[in-house]
Amino acid sequence: MAHLWSGRFAGDPDAALFEFGASFKFDRRLFEDDVAGSLAWAEALEQAEVLSPADASRIRKALEEIGAAGADPSFFDSDAAQHDEDVHSFVERELVARIGDAGRRLHTGRSRNEQVSLDLRLYLRRRVPQIQQAISNLVRVLAQQADTSGKALMPSYTHLRRAQPVLAAHFFLAHASALRRDDRRFSSVLTEVDELPLGSGAIAGTSYDIDVKALANRLGFSRVVANSIDATGDRDFVASFLHACALTMVHLSRLAEDVILFTSEEFAFFDLADAAATGSSLMPQKKNPDPLELVRGKTGRVIGRLTGWLATMKGLPIGYSKDLQEDKEGVFEAEDTVRASLDAAAAVVGGLSIDHAIAEAAASGLLLATDVADYLVAKGVPFREAHEIVGSLVRRLVDERRSFGDLTIEEWRAYSPLFQSDVRHSISPAASVARKRTPQSTNPDSVAAALAELQEWLSSRTVRT
Ligand code: ARG
Repeated sequence: MAHLWSGRFAGDPDAALFEFGASFKFDRRLFEDDVAGSLAWAEALEQAEVLSPADASRIRKALEEIGAAGADPSFFDSDAAQHDEDVHSFVERELVARIGDAGRRLHTGRSRNEQVSLDLRLYLRRRVPQIQQAISNLVRVLAQQADTSGKALMPSYTHLRRAQPVLAAHFFLAHASALRRDDRRFSSVLTEVDELPLGSGAIAGTSYDIDVKALANRLGFSRVVANSIDATGDRDFVASFLHACALTMVHLSRLAEDVILFTSEEFAFFDLADAAATGSSLMPQKKNPDPLELVRGKTGRVIGRLTGWLATMKGLPIGYSKDLQEDKEGVFEAEDTVRASLDAAAAVVGGLSIDHAIAEAAASGLLLATDVADYLVAKGVPFREAHEIVGSLVRRLVDERRSFGDLTIEEWRAYSPLFQSDVRHSISPAASVARKRTPQSTNPDSVAAALAELQEWLSSRTVRT
């Protein structure tokens, strides 16, 4: 069996070891990028007068045919393809099978070391925008929930203890904020990917007069790599991509955790749509949030891909080593997992309904203590002293299993003569959120402005895609 490098060897490689080193079963996913890169390389070789116009046009025609044949998945499963080491070998073998010697000239001055970097860059350039599209779909669903929840109130939590009342919309927009950072992070991955590695050869550059700037332009890259040694061994952009995926998963996992908690019997602020839940084979009452648990669970594997990849890179000498072949399965798995998880989260969040009464009741009570302290501050009491006074009032209410709303005006006044009768209606969840002043706060006007800004962002993205 002939391989791309058979000449140097007297015998065939050990079949099991060859299989161990082959990547075609997974890197076929780079097929269309490999064809696109090869078309551009053929053109560059022609311009450098390495290929005759006739050979270049044979190569172009055959590559176009090969590209079209890839639309049928069985193309990759032919008997000959079983022996292809990787996607680059596959395309080259198909090319030679079609046009013979002209096909054998295509690899002139080019190495798989730069080719694989190019293919992965082209691949990410195609696929990252699709992840970003899935991010905006989820953000759109969160914005819709923020919109339909209107003035609904719920408690916010710190240390998973009731903290202060917020609008439910503010909660949904909090998760949207994290996802918008993910979108920006993926854009910066695209900036990192945007460098042409071709012209680097195997490591030292190429001896042919290739106009790399024109080639970059032809392939839609804004820059050419600065150093051929670095370029052939550099997969930092893979680490950045995996980091963007891992952090997106961390955000999805936290969203999943919130929704799992808040749809449980203990919280019950939201209810899951039947279509987004599963039952138990044994316990008839169960309505389980399986898709969200899976989103949370799959976060582990994407974090694992990032840390695994960093570990793979850390011991490598500069330049290409075969270890780098490990990048692709990590990229593909992280990509598939992030996309599926974004879609699942959007489907589940889109089906949530809010129970206004339960959520608002949970936002009332002792978590208004900061508002009571602020009431005293407004009357001139230093905050630290107000905190003490309200703290001892809370202690008593906890002991007596009562809340602020149960206090008579005499009881209020026993703690401070500054409490007036207005304290009874000024201490409520709605008053609490209305009292917030900053643009990032849960004040209803601020939340409405934040939602409007988010909707503007969403509509600008619809135009872009
Ligand atoms: N399949 C290889 C990879 O993914 C392509 C580059 C192979 N280069 C080499 N010199 N063996 O990294």
